[in-house]
Amino acid sequence: MSAAQELRVKYRDIKPEIGAEILEDKATLLSGVYASELRDLLEQKGVLVLPQIHFTDEEQVAFTKTLGQLAQENRGADVYKVTLDKSQTSTADYLKGSFYWHFDGAMNPTPIRASILSSKVISLEGGNTEFANTYAAYEGLPVERKQQIADLRAVYAATATQMCHTPEPSYEEFMRWRALGRVELPLVWKHESGRKSLVIGNYAVNVLGMDPLDGIELLVYLRDWATQERYHYSHKWSVGDTVIWDNTGTLHRAMPYPLDCGRMLHRTKLQGEEPLR
Ligand SMILES: [Fe+2]
Repeated sequence: MSAAQELRVKYRDIKPEIGAEILEDKATLLSGVYASELRDLLEQKGVLVLPQIHFTDEEQVAFTKTLGQLAQENRGADVYKVTLDKSQTSTADYLKGSFYWHFDGAMNPTPIRASILSSKVISLEGGNTEFANTYAAYEGLPVERKQQIADLRAVYAATATQMCHTPEPSYEEFMRWRALGRVELPLVWKHESGRKSLVIGNYAVNVLGMDPLDGIELLVYLRDWATQERYHYSHKWSVGDTVIWDNTGTLHRAMPYPLDCGRMLHRTKLQGEEPLR
């Protein structure tokens, strides 16, 4: 299935180049009858919103498994609680990196295919999750830019994201982040489907073979290009919403919110299916 008009699943476009709202009920979604169409739509639109679907954790896990292979979290759990409340998570400080544009699992050879987030407690101020479609952004680039970046590679490391929120870490803190890894990745992901997407975000440290400032200029240009209005969707959460994004063709970030507001999202992940090299 390739063209959106061939799909039977009921949905409406949020914007022409990013986002679709799925208009099916919970039982239909859990049945898996539209799973392959949802996967196609996910790649085309980058982000799928299931408004007010009110999945329990068990239902979210079951729904995730209709779409592909569930990826377990670090400690073997199926569901991860995304919160900055230190009583709920030991990684609250690390998660502050999610306030900056990124994709998940950049350090893994095969980044996760998709993330699925369900809202349990919302922040009354801020706290939207924002997305940018890096397939559409690549396709819209001027031809000269496509030629410039066709074979470029960049260094990606968690240190870069963490230094966005803590620009002057202690040496020990920096070394803890540094131990999280470093990878060299292409700026353009040439997918097995033949489509291409941009590999950018705040993990990017520098572009190999370029003067450091010229490399930063290019990374800033590409991030600014990819997050412009036409490729960008900001999701304002209601309790019970579930949002799925294609992690191989989008960037995302959380908008700031009061850290003590109790905002809570439950995440499941779809196993990566395609190596990024
Ligand atoms: Fe993330």
